Amino acid sequence: MRLWKGPDLAQVCGALWILLALVWRGLACPQYCSCNSTRIWCNLVDKGIVAFPVLEDSSLAENITDIYIANQRSLASINDDDIKIYTGLRNLTVVDSGLQIVSRQAFRKNLKLTYINFSRNKLTSLTKKIFRNLTLSQLLLGGNPFQCSCDLMWVKVLLETNSLNMENQNIYCFNDNKKKIPLFNMHIPNCGLPIVNVSTVNITVLEGNETTMYCDANGLPDPNISWDISQILSKSLVETAKHPALLTLKNITSLDNKRVILCVAENSVGEDQVSVELNVHFPPVITFIDLPTLDHHWCIPFSVRGNPKPTLQWFHEGNVLSETDFIWSKIHETSNNTIEHHGCLQLDSPTHLNNGFYTLRAENKYGRDERSISALFMKGPDDGNPITDPGFYDYETTSNDIGGTSTDIGTGVTSTDVSNGGNEDSITVYVVVGIAALVCTGLVIMLIILKFGRHSKFGLKGFVLFHSVSLET
Ligand SMILES: *[C@@H]1O[C@H](CO)[C@@H](O)[C@H](O)[C@H]1NC(C)=O
Ligand SMILES: *[C@@H]1O[C@H](CO)[C@@H](O)[C@H](O)[C@H]1NC(C)=O
Ligand SMILES: *[C@@H]1O[C@H](CO)[C@@H](O)[C@H](O)[C@H]1NC(C)=O
Ligand SMILES: *[C@@H]1O[C@H](CO)[C@@H](O)[C@H](O)[C@H]1NC(C)=O
Ligand SMILES: *[C@@H]1O[C@H](CO)[C@@H](O)[C@H](O)[C@H]1NC(C)=O
Ligand SMILES: *[C@@H]1O[C@H](CO)[C@@H](O)[C@H](O)[C@H]1NC(C)=O
Ligand SMILES: *[C@@H]1O[C@H](CO)[C@@H](O)[C@H](O)[C@H]1NC(C)=O
Ligand SMILES: *[C@@H]1O[C@H](CO)[C@@H](O)[C@H](O)[C@H]1NC(C)=O
Ligand SMILES: *[C@@H]1O[C@H](CO)[C@@H](O)[C@H](O)[C@H]1NC(C)=O
Ligand SMILES: *[C@@H]1O[C@H](CO)[C@@H](O)[C@H](O)[C@H]1NC(C)=O
Ligand SMILES: *[C@@H]1O[C@H](CO)[C@@H](O)[C@H](O)[C@H]1NC(C)=O
Repeated sequence: MRLWKGPDLAQVCGALWILLALVWRGLACPQYCSCNSTRIWCNLVDKGIVAFPVLEDSSLAENITDIYIANQRSLASINDDDIKIYTGLRNLTVVDSGLQIVSRQAFRKNLKLTYINFSRNKLTSLTKKIFRNLTLSQLLLGGNPFQCSCDLMWVKVLLETNSLNMENQNIYCFNDNKKKIPLFNMHIPNCGLPIVNVSTVNITVLEGNETTMYCDANGLPDPNISWDISQILSKSLVETAKHPALLTLKNITSLDNKRVILCVAENSVGEDQVSVELNVHFPPVITFIDLPTLDHHWCIPFSVRGNPKPTLQWFHEGNVLSETDFIWSKIHETSNNTIEHHGCLQLDSPTHLNNGFYTLRAENKYGRDERSISALFMKGPDDGNPITDPGFYDYETTSNDIGGTSTDIGTGVTSTDVSNGGNEDSITVYVVVGIAALVCTGLVIMLIILKFGRHSKFGLKGFVLFHSVSLET
């Protein structure tokens, strides 16, 4: 009895599992369609679907990249929610079917869609809004009974500009006289791309001040205007309902210097945009100055902000410091949208004569700033020997990060120093090793002589013995 029952139970279980799997597969894939983990296809001629195939398990839908529907005469529409579960969908084909309506929101969740083939359906119109936010590489619309209208003008624009591989498609439309004409020949009055006009394309404004710019757009149908201020950090006030649309920026920050604002106009035919560059001017500020550090040369590091770029003038003990081959000012790096400059007053082999008070003055047409630092390069001749090699002051260097360049030069100097020190070290090592070798040789010779002296008969044997013993230990 028990032997009989065991295998029977296992068989029942197995069968149940197979059945479950079959039922599950059946449930998972819509009727009259076939599915695998990445693809759904419904192309049976005799048995047709009447609605867009929707997977019951939406977690499986995420992995579908390809939906292929063909010869489905009863499939008339793609509704708002039919496709939204297929978030990974790349290729959508609905061909030789009864498709008449594609809902405006249909593809709002299918941002990966790149290929759409709607050839030979029953589409009479198709608005551009459906494809908003998609980055399609191919859109196939041939063989549909479109009505000639301004709503279809965007397709003609695509054809004319050869976008999305539209060429060589047999796209046509029926005009008011029910005459079939190639879309290429469609002419609709008062239907065209918008043209944007802005009050200025290059705004210069003082930091902290405010500015207002205007944007208008011509086009029929009347286009919608919007500002793209995603790059802008300053406070903004947007008014797009009226003509012209306006944008006010308040308390403008210098961090917006060289940033770009877009004015975009859009109608059913297409869109146009114009960019506006912001130049934010402000008086110079010296934000950083510090004690000299030793790089390849001596460096008095500084950072200065200002737009337009300030002119720099150094003073030593109150006197204008004219730049020479031995003392010169250099900007190593410019950051923060070209408004922040980092650099050094560089000094080649300074002596005690270069000690003293250094002042930096930065100036542009809006004002000036000054900051000073006291520099001590070396002691006077009375206090000791003047040392001309700045390398000897290396250990006194305070570390200061001012731009990548100076740091690089700094390490360059350090590595030369290390290699010099390395040479001295290795000479010492050679001497020690040499002395050790001499002492050892002496000892060995002594031992041999001792052994040879004691056992002169077995001299050779003794020597060999000694040798092998020393090898063994
Ligand atoms: C799904 O089916 C398609 C076409 O039959 C095939 O190209 C693809 O490799 C299949 N994918 C998987 C994951 O089986
Ligand atoms: C979807 O694909 C990913 C990676 O290919 C896989 O890890 C995951 O299990 C799949 N999800 C489902 C529900 O099959
Ligand atoms: C999508 O369709 C294109 C064109 O038929 C094909 O080259 C591509 O391999 C398809 N991509 C996927 C993910 O099926
Ligand atoms: C397109 O994307 C933008 C922002 O990414 C969003 O505000 C807008 O609603 C989207 N449009 C559609 C039709 O999904
Ligand atoms: C679009 O689909 C139709 C019908 O399957 C096919 O004949 C055509 O080659 C497809 N177009 C492209 C570019 O894949
Ligand atoms: C654009 O603006 C300028 C000056 O504001 C004006 O002269 C011109 O007529 C405008 N062009 C269009 C097409 O609106
Ligand atoms: C914008 O104006 C600024 C200063 O007024 C000028 O330096 C810059 O070259 C101008 N840019 C363009 C694109 O005209
Ligand atoms: C802002 O700019 C206007 C016009 O250039 C000027 O009259 C005004 O003084 C500026 N305001 C400030 C706070 O700089
Ligand atoms: C303008 O912005 C600066 C900082 O960017 C802030 O300190 C100042 O209070 C602001 N002024 C006004 C009037 O909001
Ligand atoms: C213009 O904006 C209005 C309201 O935001 C919207 O209903 C309309 O569809 C938009 N038109 C276009 C062509 O984007
Ligand atoms: C840019 O400016 C901001 C604000 O003044 C400052 O916090 C930041 O450190 C600056 N960045 C660089 C790389 O100079």
